[in-house]
Amino acid sequence: MLSACVAFIRGVMVAVMTVATVITPFSKKTQAKITRSDEKCKAAFAAISDTHLKDNFIRTGMLEFGLRDMSKAKDRLDAVVFNGDITDRGDVENWQAFTDTLLKYDISDNNIMVLGNHDTWGGDRTPEYTKKTFIEFSKKATGRDIKNVYFTADIKGCPVIVLGSEGDHTYATISKKQIDWFAKEMKKASKTGLPIFVFCHQSFNGTHGLPYNWELKKDDDPDTGGIGDASDEILGIVKKYKNVFFISGHIHAGLTAENSRTFYSSVEKYDGYTLVNVPCYEYPDVKRGGHIANGTGYVFEVYDNEVLLRARNFATGTWLEKYDISVQLCK
Ligand SMILES: [Fe+2]
Repeated sequence: MLSACVAFIRGVMVAVMTVATVITPFSKKTQAKITRSDEKCKAAFAAISDTHLKDNFIRTGMLEFGLRDMSKAKDRLDAVVFNGDITDRGDVENWQAFTDTLLKYDISDNNIMVLGNHDTWGGDRTPEYTKKTFIEFSKKATGRDIKNVYFTADIKGCPVIVLGSEGDHTYATISKKQIDWFAKEMKKASKTGLPIFVFCHQSFNGTHGLPYNWELKKDDDPDTGGIGDASDEILGIVKKYKNVFFISGHIHAGLTAENSRTFYSSVEKYDGYTLVNVPCYEYPDVKRGGHIANGTGYVFEVYDNEVLLRARNFATGTWLEKYDISVQLCK
């Protein structure tokens, strides 16, 4: 009975947020096109996560609001990253719905797709199906030729490393082969002297309020909701380098300000590396911390000495300045 009540309340809140998101674009005073905050910006890219696309007009429509916003940017984005759980189940129909929706809009010349756990649950749910389908639809949706669920890219010269699960669990299955590849690519990336952007759908174990904001059980296993077994090894590699941004999604939480006193923080700064948890773009849960709304994400602006994270509701076309966070780069 209690769980039915919670589900009902959650459903009402999500419905209210959806209606609010749909109405806001008609309020012209709150809209501001995507621009760079300073002309010295060397690269700017958007990151959104957990779009959970399926052939459903509410899901595709909400994504379209955001894509339209990006396509109308005054300063064109250098890249757009979809940080996993792009689809709801990973079925071909889901991927096709995402692809058809994305291809309606010219948002950047460098769109990057990251595999999430929901994306591994389609077809016969085997790693072979997931890999084949992800590679096929990365090509169809973004034009990118990749050979695996993990790969490299770049944004205006800044190295980008994308990790991807090789299993079908909620945590990430990262093989020894992928970890060794990651170590090699991080070493190579560090030679550029530029910030390194690592995308992985799942965040490190025990970060961003995990495990408490995953299922809200204080006695959950400390690894619940995170990368899982490979977490420490990947973090160990990240810690060897400076100016690394490890960007996740997955938690379905919202935005927090730098001085947030909640148990959840969307950005965690450490010595030399920064963890960023991108809020859930669509179908947000309501109790996982931070400012929750359909359509939210970040625009990253790269400067010589700083990376500025600008919070935005792409669906409503509005900046959310109170959640902006500046990260000073190490020399
Ligand atoms: Fe998700």
